[in-house]
Amino acid sequence: MPRHPSTSPITRSLTAYVFSASRKSAVQATDVPYKLHIGDTWLEPVAAAQVDALSCAQTPGIHRYAPVQGVPELLDAIGRKLARRTPSAVVEREDIQVTPGCTGAMAIMCRALLAPGEEVLLPSPYWPLIKGVINSVGAAPVEVPMMHRLADPTFDVEAVLEAAVTPRTSAIYVNSPCNPTGAVLNDKQAAAVARVAARHHLWIFCDEVYEDLYYGAEPPSLWARPDFAGRTVVGHSLSKAYAMAGARVGWVHGPRDAMQAIRAMQTFHAYCAARPMQMSAAAALDHGDEWLDGCRGVYAEACQIAAHGLGIDAPDGGTFLFFDAEQWLGEGGMAELLDRCRDAGVTLTPGSASGRDFPNHLRLSFTAVPPEQIVDAVARLRSVFGT
Ligand SMILES: Cc1ncc(COP(=O)(O)O)c(C=O)c1O
Repeated sequence: MPRHPSTSPITRSLTAYVFSASRKSAVQATDVPYKLHIGDTWLEPVAAAQVDALSCAQTPGIHRYAPVQGVPELLDAIGRKLARRTPSAVVEREDIQVTPGCTGAMAIMCRALLAPGEEVLLPSPYWPLIKGVINSVGAAPVEVPMMHRLADPTFDVEAVLEAAVTPRTSAIYVNSPCNPTGAVLNDKQAAAVARVAARHHLWIFCDEVYEDLYYGAEPPSLWARPDFAGRTVVGHSLSKAYAMAGARVGWVHGPRDAMQAIRAMQTFHAYCAARPMQMSAAAALDHGDEWLDGCRGVYAEACQIAAHGLGIDAPDGGTFLFFDAEQWLGEGGMAELLDRCRDAGVTLTPGSASGRDFPNHLRLSFTAVPPEQIVDAVARLRSVFGT
């Protein structure tokens, strides 16, 4: 039966933008000097990974299709990167799949491992896109308020996750360090996640996008824990730590059967990630360690400036501050506060994009502009807040 002009029922739960329609025009305004609503960076990648370093002469066929799994140069570089970052783990090359960013990784992971109607435990506050990624395969994200409470020693991760499990639960999403709170799961909390997953036969979807952006001790890779083994599928990205968000390169690894399903899904979804950018990504992974150390230092400084200026605790990792702004809300509520910030020259993300329990929170990206500009942006916010 012809169904034009209706669209797939799944798309009815999705919009083409992450924020509400009214915020879309606000954040698209061109005259705003400090666009801190988006988790990107002002830094250019390490020279070896910049587009200027690519050439047809050096890489004949660079514009052709890449192998579905990824170009050999990048698969080799990923193997070396995994061995450096997580020496305790052994990941077979066969179990790695290059993807169009971690968004692509999460999308094909959900498509390959979830069935419509299944539920995914989604610790909140969360990365704004993940909810739509889960919805886009007809599965249901179940918000579990958690990632703002990890510092509370009385907070019981196992109890809150357990309470959210239903017969339809199929997976737990874990993002540590977290967008937006920057929080890192400690050993006990990770063990609690693993127990819930084992008890209910769940997949664990580990989102490691911020694995290299930490401002204290290097957090151990959760996915390499023995209690995560066999059920954990892991997404990584060049977007954040290597300043290559526009390149759209990430990768997934996990148990062999899952990876075969994921590779099949990638074949019919995107086929391959962009070959030129895979070459740049390989260069970033192989030549970017020193650059990354410097980047971490610059971000740590920006993080301290922003947190201190706003009178809140600096996070352990990530690229954001996430804070309760209730005390600064007027009669016009959050929309008015965001407009006042924008009129003062700073765009921020409403907390509602990270979960229904955060209508009065704001998210600020401290990596979007250099630290000296963060100083001015925070001064402008303070004048709006009256602090
Ligand atoms: C937690 C998290 N996961 C995944 C992504 C997407 O990364 P990519 O640019 O590699 O698609 C982001 C981007 O902001 C993120 O914050």
